[in-house]
Amino acid sequence: MSALPTSSREWHLVARPHGWPEASDLALREAAVAAPGEGRILVRNLYFSVDPYMRGRMNDVKSYTPPFKLDHPMDGGAVGEVIASNAEGFAVGDHVLHGLGWREYADVPAKHAVKVDGSIAPLSAYLGVLGMPGLTAYAGLFEVASFKEGDAVFVSGAAGAVGSQVGQMAKLKGASRVIGSAGSDEKVKLLVEEYGFDAAFNYKNGPVREQLAEAAPDGIDVYFDNVGGEHLEAAISSMNVHGRATICGMIAQYNATEPTPGPRNLALVIGKRLRLQGILVGDHAALQPQFVQEVAGWLASGALKYRETKVEGIENGFDAFVGLLRGENTGKMIVSLDA
Ligand SMILES: NC(=O)c1ccc[n+]([C@@H]2O[C@H](COP(=O)([O-])OP(=O)(O)OC[C@H]3O[C@@H](n4cnc5c(N)ncnc54)[C@H](OP(=O)(O)O)[C@@H]3O)[C@@H](O)[C@H]2O)c1
Repeated sequence: MSALPTSSREWHLVARPHGWPEASDLALREAAVAAPGEGRILVRNLYFSVDPYMRGRMNDVKSYTPPFKLDHPMDGGAVGEVIASNAEGFAVGDHVLHGLGWREYADVPAKHAVKVDGSIAPLSAYLGVLGMPGLTAYAGLFEVASFKEGDAVFVSGAAGAVGSQVGQMAKLKGASRVIGSAGSDEKVKLLVEEYGFDAAFNYKNGPVREQLAEAAPDGIDVYFDNVGGEHLEAAISSMNVHGRATICGMIAQYNATEPTPGPRNLALVIGKRLRLQGILVGDHAALQPQFVQEVAGWLASGALKYRETKVEGIENGFDAFVGLLRGENTGKMIVSLDA
């Protein structure tokens, strides 16, 4: 066995951001690496995920995931290669998905690692299209929104990791019309030309309500909300009777320093008999086998497309995270350590 590394760089949260995170809120620090103890594996991370929910974990508030601890390594999804194993069923050279991202080397309890197969899809795809964001799209559309053939679907954040899959999955399952919104003309073009959306608009080009009404003249049956705010209000206005909204994320308010207003037209929920329901992907683990099977099939046939934005180098972890919040990504934002 070749010599194991003795140290690893890892990102720590050192101050809780107020509003937009600043570079001084995080620090890249050195930590010692030891051989794995009983039941553990040492993993060289190849890719780690930066996700919008991590912004919430930087606040010291009770939530569905605990806040990041100050002066401790941050964590999150990662894929890497086992370089030492002290656990049955894991061998050096195996590729695994686990939860100790934001660092070069991870000492992982084997029970919290899942082997992944690079022959089905590139390893980074297990952080995106075949991973947590993909399952969020799948569960949010088919289980939470009770999507059915013929539905007209609107998704915000449509060029992102979750949104780009929602729109394409709806098309694959017979949506009558799929509309997406995104934050640049280039992303809008991608939605229509590459992902097959029927219509798309740049929310920065004019009021969402007007652009959506124009893109969906017959209304929408399903709204998949990644953004909140003005988007949610516009979607409620455009929703047809018995419409369903999956409330997946509200990224427009993640860096807000004051409480943000709710939709002013919420009373429409009554007359239209709308259902607005939140999702937490963790509640839908039972769907995982079906999701992997179906999505792997779509990927193999080329029916489902995806993009990734890879930022190279652990030292660029903070920039990748803030870039994600600013919309610098197209598809899944990933930090690559695969140099
Ligand atoms: N509930 C769950 O279990 C669950 C699981 C996964 C993700 N989520 C949520 O799903 C949403 C999408 O996550 P993701 O991982 O797929 O991220 P993503 O869409 O790949 O990346 C975030 C995108 O948000 C957009 N954005 C940023 N600020 C915005 C604003 N003020 N208004 C409109 N769009 C804005 C940017 O795209 P533009 O260039 O288009 O602005 C950016 O690329 C997030 O809200 C996230 O919190 C929820």
